[in-house]
Amino acid sequence: MFPTHRPRRLRNHPQLRRMVRENILTTSDLIYPLFAVPGEAFAKEVTSMPGVYQLSVDKIVEEAKEVYDLGIPAIILFGIPADKDTDATGAWHDCGIVQKATEAVKKAVPDLIVMVDTCLCEYTSHGHCGYLEVGDLSGRVLNDPTLELLKKTAVAQAKAGADIIAPSGMMDGFVGAIRQGLDSAGFEDIPIMSYAAKYASAYYGPFRDAADSAPQFGDRRTYQMDPGNGREALKEIALDIAEGADMLMVKPALAYMDIIWRVKEATNLPVAAYNVSGEYAMVKAAALNGWIDEERVVMETLTGFKRAGTDLILTYHAKDAARWLQN
Ligand code: PBG
Ligand code: ZN
Repeated sequence: MFPTHRPRRLRNHPQLRRMVRENILTTSDLIYPLFAVPGEAFAKEVTSMPGVYQLSVDKIVEEAKEVYDLGIPAIILFGIPADKDTDATGAWHDCGIVQKATEAVKKAVPDLIVMVDTCLCEYTSHGHCGYLEVGDLSGRVLNDPTLELLKKTAVAQAKAGADIIAPSGMMDGFVGAIRQGLDSAGFEDIPIMSYAAKYASAYYGPFRDAADSAPQFGDRRTYQMDPGNGREALKEIALDIAEGADMLMVKPALAYMDIIWRVKEATNLPVAAYNVSGEYAMVKAAALNGWIDEERVVMETLTGFKRAGTDLILTYHAKDAARWLQN
């Protein structure tokens, strides 16, 4: 008798396929990013990210309610301040836009987890993720002075009611610095999800439109990781774990599936993947042209992240995915 093995036997019936499916995406896996801007009753669609908006705080609250009603457990907040300066004042000030949005969301939807991105690039006049030497046009961020601002930022975010702090600046000692800052301000119970392996990626392009955070000169290659490196991701996660990270993130996701897998194999901590703006923009552009089936492509991609080992997925598709999962 030939063939001896017939794997197709388990694929013949939809219910049987369901029974033997190894990885299943659920709404609990999703985290939805939101962009807060000053003003009122303001919503502006991001050109390169159809369906994603810059929103004033009142609109963020409406959106947060919708996200919660869809069963999505968490949002991550980014902020675009009214003014930018070299000290990134908008990031760490108690009246900063993310602090205001956090307070408003926690008041209106207390059961929604509010994660906040901790970085300075949206708040610096030059668009880099930290302090630069005065007159420096190369974009070489000064590591240790930047940590002081980031520490202040994390504490301000925690004071505003943030549930999870997500440091994304790829500074050395970032996790340790904010852990210490949070602990000494009485926030020892606030977890840190570290953007541990974050690559210098062209896939962040649309985000920089959304957050108005493209560097004015130079690039982020002196702090974000080189796309050719895999082992280095394991070094970065080991450092972040040693400094007190509670969860780890790999970013971007699609071109870095191997990194997600290796990080997951190397740790017991929850691992998140950031399905970034450029990945979203590509799917949206093709879908709007009628070139791909958006629902199937998105669900296949998000399931792929699960298969690669993610526990959590930050994605601009979260609301759509939650709706599709309901059917
Ligand atoms: C800030 C930050 C960025 C993203 C998340 N946090 C941009 C960057 O590093 O330039 C990118 C998210 C996305 O592309 O969706 N450091
Ligand atoms: Zn940054």
